[in-house]
Amino acid sequence: MPHWIVVGAGIAGLRAALTLASAGEVTLITKEVASESNTHYAQGGIAVAMGGSEDVQLHEQDTIQAGDGLVFAPAARMLVEEGPARVAELLAWGTNFDREHGGREPGQLMRTREGAHSLPRILHANGDATGREIGRALLERASRDRRIHLHERVTTCDLLLHDGRVVGVTALDASGQSKEFVGNGVLLTSGGAGQVYSDTTNPAVATGDGIAMAYRAGAEVADMEFYQFHPTALSLPGAPRFLLSEALRGEGAYLRNHHGERFMERYHPLAELAPRDIVARAITREGFGERPGETLPVYLDMRHVQGKDLHQRFPGISSFLEKYGLELSRDLVPVRPAAHYLMGGVRTDLYGRTTLPGLYAAGEVACTGVHGANRLASNSLLEGLVFGARAAETVVQEGMHGDVPKPMFEQRIVAEEPKTSSDVSAMRERLRGLMWLHAGLLRDEAGLLAMQSALDAMRPELPAAATRDAAELRNLHTIAELITASALARKESRGAHARTDFPDHDPGCAKHSRMVQGRVDFIDLTATLPR
Ligand code: SIN
Repeated sequence: MPHWIVVGAGIAGLRAALTLASAGEVTLITKEVASESNTHYAQGGIAVAMGGSEDVQLHEQDTIQAGDGLVFAPAARMLVEEGPARVAELLAWGTNFDREHGGREPGQLMRTREGAHSLPRILHANGDATGREIGRALLERASRDRRIHLHERVTTCDLLLHDGRVVGVTALDASGQSKEFVGNGVLLTSGGAGQVYSDTTNPAVATGDGIAMAYRAGAEVADMEFYQFHPTALSLPGAPRFLLSEALRGEGAYLRNHHGERFMERYHPLAELAPRDIVARAITREGFGERPGETLPVYLDMRHVQGKDLHQRFPGISSFLEKYGLELSRDLVPVRPAAHYLMGGVRTDLYGRTTLPGLYAAGEVACTGVHGANRLASNSLLEGLVFGARAAETVVQEGMHGDVPKPMFEQRIVAEEPKTSSDVSAMRERLRGLMWLHAGLLRDEAGLLAMQSALDAMRPELPAAATRDAAELRNLHTIAELITASALARKESRGAHARTDFPDHDPGCAKHSRMVQGRVDFIDLTATLPR
């Protein structure tokens, strides 16, 4: 019986594991406990066109428009067309999305509108805990499947190759012991890399491990310059950069500058519901003070919203804010952008295949081109579901069914001497701060070159991946290199990539960046990849 390895237990990994287990054994590896992933923290919801063919078409249009000229249209079509069936499956598997209590349609699924959506089509669960509820339902189903073997607190370090084919991963278990997992193929579903920035909504596990491992092994990555900054993360001294869901604006919240003025109408006709990249940059600009480096507060305001119980609609956000003495219906809530979602990743076709035989990827770790230069709000959980299932189907169809070969393992980075954990965490913090400064929401050539020099200087200092912290630092360094090189190469502004020295679109740059073994070029995506 074939045996597959899935790295990452968020929505894409769990959904994929369920399909794989129908045809073989599955080793599902996660760096923390299975519930700790970006999926778990997804608040707003899951965008899905459950209203028939017109809704599907509009969802496709909205996705393409938000992506600022770079969405790979066949991927967007698959996302919106296959989405409703995948969400119906979630409902059948016991996911409790919120439903109307009264009104004209009691019992119907509640739908919210979010930025750049032409219709209210965002389903949510427990108000603002959608990812947690979906993750719960999928994990419960996966736990009942005897063919899915969950390995928690295991850090994957590198891919194992045999005759040019990916056959497994090396890893460190919870006690720091080295391990190898070998199988008929590896599916990466390890999520994003928000920890590469000092300011992020992402949990500590989001260190880009899958992308870094795949790149080191020779896989192509694409669109790494496109990091989405969520406009509204809490901005209070001493408080984490807690996500304040876009659904708050969907339910009527305004943004106000330090004069108390609404300002979004000056930036986009959709005002607070403009695409996320536009809102994030507008908040940043409104926050510039008179003196260099001075920042002024920007606020989210729900005080005018009538007829809604905000505690009931947003219980998680409300109880988090309460800890800091804030209440949505009473207070202005200070916000500023934070790194949230990586549109780029390991380049895949529409079937989850990467450029390395035996290696597949789905969800945030992958780049199908579905989000282009800027992801439409609440399309990420849907992406994990649709492309997780698609990739698993491909793995089953293509997987080697013969014996699993003994791999050759190459340790690719060797430190000059072991580093202490305080060295490692100091390097991590330095890297994250520099990335925020030089490769964050607003970029230019001088800053990106300074970032490149800092990364070059850090490289000889990197420790061997002998501990989880060291492995993560090495991966963050790789991710920083990929983002910086791709951002330098794209000499225009588009979607989430804003170059102050090239503020406009360059129609000649309406292509996807691709990076492999240190080289960046620009390509059109196609439905299949060369092997
Ligand atoms: C949010 O609730 O604003 C985040 C959801 C998303 O990233 O699409």
